[in-house]
Parts: sequence; C-alpha cells; structure tokens
Amino acid sequence: MIICSCNVLSDKQLREAAEEMRADPNGKVPTPGAVFRHLGCRPRCGGCFPAVIDIIHEKSSEETEASKPGTGPRKRAVGR
Ligand code: FES
Repeated sequence: MIICSCNVLSDKQLREAAEEMRADPNGKVPTPGAVFRHLGCRPRCGGCFPAVIDIIHEKSSEETEASKPGTGPRKRAVGR
C-alpha cells in the first residue's frame, strides 16, 4: 500500500529501509527523514509522517516485546 504519495513509497519499502538501517551497526536511527534519505528521497508535505512513524516503530516494538524476559516462547515442563 502506498503510504507516501509525494514520493510514491509503499509500507513495504519503508519497513525494509527501517530494518536495513537497524541492521547496520554504523547506521543511523530510523527517523522518518533518515528513512526517506536511505531510500534516496526527501520528505515533502510531511502528511505521511504519522503513518511512517507507526511503520518504523511497528517492527521495533515487536523486537522489544520478544526481547523482554518472560515474553519469549514458553518452554514445556518435562514432567514425569
Ligand atoms: S505524503 Fe509523504 S511527504 Fe507528502
């Protein structure tokens, strides 16, 4: 789905760019402006920023949840 109509950027492109930035140890924090620059464009009207922020944080909050103690997959108790 197209999120940024000014630059014709999809949610998939934005999500992948944010993931690439997080995976790069020397990469920048994936802010909306940094994600746009990573994709070779510049923000124009800024109307898409609330949605872009949601997409960027969607993934990072999933990772944060998974890294919390006690929120990972439960281990089955091996009983007798
Ligand atoms: S809709 Fe993204 S900058 Fe205008």
